[in-house]
Amino acid sequence: MSEAVHDEVVAALTTSRRRFLSILEPFDEPVLRRQHDLLMSPLLWDLAHVANYEDLWLVRALGDAPTREGLDDLYDAFKQPRRVREALPLLGLSEAVAYGRAVRARALDRLERSDLGPDGPDPLLRHAFVHHMVVQHEHQHAETLLAAIQLLPVEEGHVLTSSPPPGAQLVPPAEVFVPAGSFAMGTDDPGALDNERPVHDVHLPAYWIDAVPVTNGQYRAFVESGGYDQAQWWSDSGWVWRHEAHLDAPQFWSRDGDGWARLRFGTVEPLPDDEPVQHVCWYEADAYARWAGRRLPTEAEWEKAARFDSATGASRRWPWGDGEPTPAHANLDQRHLGPAPVGAYPAGVSALGCHQMVGDVWEWTASDFVAYPSFAWFPYAEYSAVFFGADHKVLRGGSWATHNTVGRPTFRNWDLPIRRQIFAGFRTARDA
Ligand SMILES: [Fe+2]
Repeated sequence: MSEAVHDEVVAALTTSRRRFLSILEPFDEPVLRRQHDLLMSPLLWDLAHVANYEDLWLVRALGDAPTREGLDDLYDAFKQPRRVREALPLLGLSEAVAYGRAVRARALDRLERSDLGPDGPDPLLRHAFVHHMVVQHEHQHAETLLAAIQLLPVEEGHVLTSSPPPGAQLVPPAEVFVPAGSFAMGTDDPGALDNERPVHDVHLPAYWIDAVPVTNGQYRAFVESGGYDQAQWWSDSGWVWRHEAHLDAPQFWSRDGDGWARLRFGTVEPLPDDEPVQHVCWYEADAYARWAGRRLPTEAEWEKAARFDSATGASRRWPWGDGEPTPAHANLDQRHLGPAPVGAYPAGVSALGCHQMVGDVWEWTASDFVAYPSFAWFPYAEYSAVFFGADHKVLRGGSWATHNTVGRPTFRNWDLPIRRQIFAGFRTARDA
């Protein structure tokens, strides 16, 4: 076993747990136990769920006995829909933390006896695939925790604060041109998840795409021009949903005299015009794009704009190149509790000239979540294959709340077109 891979796995597991627990730290057990919104679990459920997932994959799937029997059904996301999770006999806070510690000790013990080499006998262990999968899972749930915390009632006074993101460094162009041609989409990286694989060539006609995500100021113009009352901008199902759910502005926006305010982690503040809009569902993003005379990019168009380098003809690992993200490249890793103004990350610009493709806000795309050519599920179909189809839309690029292990530009997120509690915005495109 390679010592370097081993050490990297231990460090990654330690980081994800520390980050997860630090998000829960300010909250009392009764708050953690309560379900504040039917869309989100009680925070306490997530805590033992990530430990149970780790037990399944880093202990039992590798041949060791369960750390603790009788918890699988309780913490299985498929067996327990979110709306029932508050009524479950969940482990208490200290018990859940202790369970997580016990699982971790056994996972590390199993790791000591594991061959992580590329030619090892167990495909789960090659390149530490299964360890990376568990780390990503925990980071994804850490982002979910923040989405649940954002929904806590203001009167309970749960205020989270962070240092502000950097200000705008330049004024990006409105849009960039992407010439017709093929590019390599997806990845063969051994740490990548099944749905991002394999690398395959995709040919796209020429198109234009926004250099930055749509801002609050741009979106406000749509709201103020009556866009939510004009059926012509909305898809049929979007129009039905706009009425059913009484949508009239992004979630967490409110009128403030002549202007607008937004609620963020317990603080109501004036709406900043230059930040990417957040908390819009796919239907709203789609309607805005039509109102603006444009459309949402497909996920292939999004990925080409983020990764394709016409000078080399290759797709980069990250928009700015192959080097791992630093704080100068992108607003990732929960360093700040929200998106940065557009133009705040000139060092992160893609070869084609797109800014903030990674971090800030997840970006809705026009695409349904479907399998790439020659997709094969691994290591279990419930990771993504069972979600393929027209019900889910793809989101790309990660948000300010996404850890960099999940923020890579080949990572495919998916959700229902009605979802707004996630940290999602969008950018638009048009045919050339
Ligand atoms: Fe999960």
